[in-house]
Amino acid sequence: MKTEQGNGGLERVRIENEECEAELYLNGATLTAWKPRSQARPVLWTSKQATWIAGKAIRGGVPLCFPWFGPKAGAAQHGWARTSAWSLDQADDRQLVLSLAPRDGLAARYVVRAGAELELEFTAINAGSSVATVEVALHAYFEISDPTAVYISGLEGATYLDRIAGGARARQEGVVTIGGEVDRTFVGHAGTVELWDPGLRRKIIIRKERSNSTVVWNPWIDKARAMADFGDEEYQQMVCIEPANAGEDALLLKPGESHLTRVVIAVEPLT
Ligand code: BG6
Repeated sequence: MKTEQGNGGLERVRIENEECEAELYLNGATLTAWKPRSQARPVLWTSKQATWIAGKAIRGGVPLCFPWFGPKAGAAQHGWARTSAWSLDQADDRQLVLSLAPRDGLAARYVVRAGAELELEFTAINAGSSVATVEVALHAYFEISDPTAVYISGLEGATYLDRIAGGARARQEGVVTIGGEVDRTFVGHAGTVELWDPGLRRKIIIRKERSNSTVVWNPWIDKARAMADFGDEEYQQMVCIEPANAGEDALLLKPGESHLTRVVIAVEPLT
């Protein structure tokens, strides 16, 4: 399968098969679209204000955060995987295999399988000669009808670090609802999460394997305005649910060791 020039002239690859359409940019190995044919609306969301510049993160889809998650002194937020040029090693009308060459002894491999369900497999690889602590997040942006109408189940009772409260620990009471800025890193959380959207009459199911953290993010009004590559009103169209191994769930990899984080995303109608 050939790549083509996409937005900003960046190299991208498209998947079309009887079950879905999808699109991935080699810049960051960012999957920017996935729409099963059963759906009237896309499942992944990408900003209309996204910037399409080599070496810059793309606002939407599934940016890959690695080898760290969040801010880091003197370095770019969320690591370099989402801003690096990846190699496309294999491609057909259903599966893409990509790799990221070692940098500071750390490499990665990414497999995307797109059909009626979406399977994402991110392998963090310690290709260096010393033990490394790494973080991973598959920073998925989901399209929703209205943040105040959707809710997220599967996190009830889980402990989270609240970034908008300076990282304070809290316990999730009931399902997650969005009525303002939300930026929670759920720790020690390996279970399935479901995004219920009565407006789009669908439920997005996010199953994960070997992922012990889950991040939920909606920037709301002020943060949306502060981001140049995010429309002022777009916080009304998206929520991020990010399978991760972050913070206290960071991975310790010995030389030669690797870790596969696997995510399967499915959609079901709500009747
Ligand atoms: C989320 C973080 O995962 O990503 C938020 O929890 C952050 O704190 C958001 O604001 C977006 O990050 P960025 O670097 O893509 O603007």
